Amino acid sequence: MTIHIGADPGDIAETVLMPGDPYRARWAAETFLESPRRVNEVRGMFGYTGTWQGHPVTIQGSGMGMPSLSIYANELIRDYGAKTLIRIGSCGAMQSHVKLRDVILAMTASSISTPSRGILRELAFAPCADWGLLKAAWDAAQAKWTMVHAGGIYSSDVFYDERPDLNEQMTRHGILAVEMEAAELYTVAARHGARALAVLTVSDHLLTGEALPAADRENSFGEMVEIALAAAFA
Ligand code: HPA
Repeated sequence: MTIHIGADPGDIAETVLMPGDPYRARWAAETFLESPRRVNEVRGMFGYTGTWQGHPVTIQGSGMGMPSLSIYANELIRDYGAKTLIRIGSCGAMQSHVKLRDVILAMTASSISTPSRGILRELAFAPCADWGLLKAAWDAAQAKWTMVHAGGIYSSDVFYDERPDLNEQMTRHGILAVEMEAAELYTVAARHGARALAVLTVSDHLLTGEALPAADRENSFGEMVEIALAAAFA
């Protein structure tokens, strides 16, 4: 048990998928894992462990935003020995060639700051995905004929953004989409020698104002889970 995860030692697999929403963790575990069992419910941030094609997998909610994700990523890696962490989540597109439901593999994640800023101080650390996971996820997406993009994303601290100029700069610099967790996941994983990747589905579009209807979100979310699982065990 850690402060935020009630699982017993050995209850957490070395491979962890991390959706922001704990109910998505439950849905993904019940849909894609064999014999899933709940291993965490502290603060309602559900975690489940089961197997996928015989491989042990944990699906643990991260909550929204980098401070929340940071707590779970730190405890999963440092206390439970997680070695591969894949964020599965939604994002807002920032380029016109990126469409709703497309999948984005985050090669890098820019930010204003992350919870790791206090350690890195003046260093503008470049958080990046694990290459092997990224390559495997790309191959898995291609095999499924999924519309996939690999490139930089923006990990923002705010959903209700009062600085549209920052989004404009991100778009101008080729950033594909915005979400709120990947930069810290990549940084914590790098610090502790774990592998990390963010696989994201475009749920809304900052340039057009479009958004996916709730029913579509579940289908797109499923594709992302399949890509993440295939990448983890490629
Ligand atoms: N902003 C931040 N995070 C997000 C968004 C967004 O527009 N869409 C999905 N996650």
